[in-house]
Amino acid sequence: METTSRPLYLFANWKMYLDYEESLALARSLESQRDLPQELALAVFPSALAFAGVQRALAGTTVKTGAQNIHWLDKGGYTGEVSAHMYQGLGAEYALIGHSERRHLCGETNHDVRQKMEAALLSGLAPVLCVGETTQEREAGQETEVVEAQLRAAYEEIAWPAGRPIVIAYEPVWAIGTGMACDAEEAGRMHTMINTFVRALLPEGESSILYGGSVRPENVLEYFRQPHVSGVLVGGASVKPESWNGIVTQIKTLF
Ligand code: PGA
Repeated sequence: METTSRPLYLFANWKMYLDYEESLALARSLESQRDLPQELALAVFPSALAFAGVQRALAGTTVKTGAQNIHWLDKGGYTGEVSAHMYQGLGAEYALIGHSERRHLCGETNHDVRQKMEAALLSGLAPVLCVGETTQEREAGQETEVVEAQLRAAYEEIAWPAGRPIVIAYEPVWAIGTGMACDAEEAGRMHTMINTFVRALLPEGESSILYGGSVRPENVLEYFRQPHVSGVLVGGASVKPESWNGIVTQIKTLF
């Protein structure tokens, strides 16, 4: 586990799993999690539809919110899109950038990712860059190369505002939503590589690297035992009260 005084992160990516009412109900249920340690940065990423309602439901709690995706322009004729600027105006703190479901299902490129990184930074959000290799890339032994290219595209020569957190989620595509979580030691190896690489690209900052991909109450603590694992990004298990509460209970034992 990380030995710095930086926070540990617990992020919940609600994806397109919940409708409006379900999102509000889940947000209200988080209100009861008042006894969370201050050093735990807890954030939920609701759908664009539910974002404003969830934000209101969480007002007065320590739970933060983030966008699942953003457009890189502030305003304009972009049907169906929502900008970083708009999310920030509602109180978002974070934005997921380059989630693999957007890269692989919506054709998002490393170039798009870079534009979104810059828009998030300009709007005052902390971008959470998602990186990870596909099954084919891993089978071909290309995981390091692929992840390094994703990191370089996002961070090389970017103007990073002082004090803005550098948050990365390592999410191997083959582990997302499949129940086949990445072996914890292997995740630790990838995190160490990511940490070294990002340190070279952004020498002035320290990055926090989260693991994502089939995180469950049964495996969550294994990740925190690895080097350079500062948190987890949870998808499917974050929208079911039983598994979510199980993960929160496990993480509390770390403090
Ligand atoms: P999962 O998703 O926990 O359902 O595997 C993680 C993610 O996509 O962020």
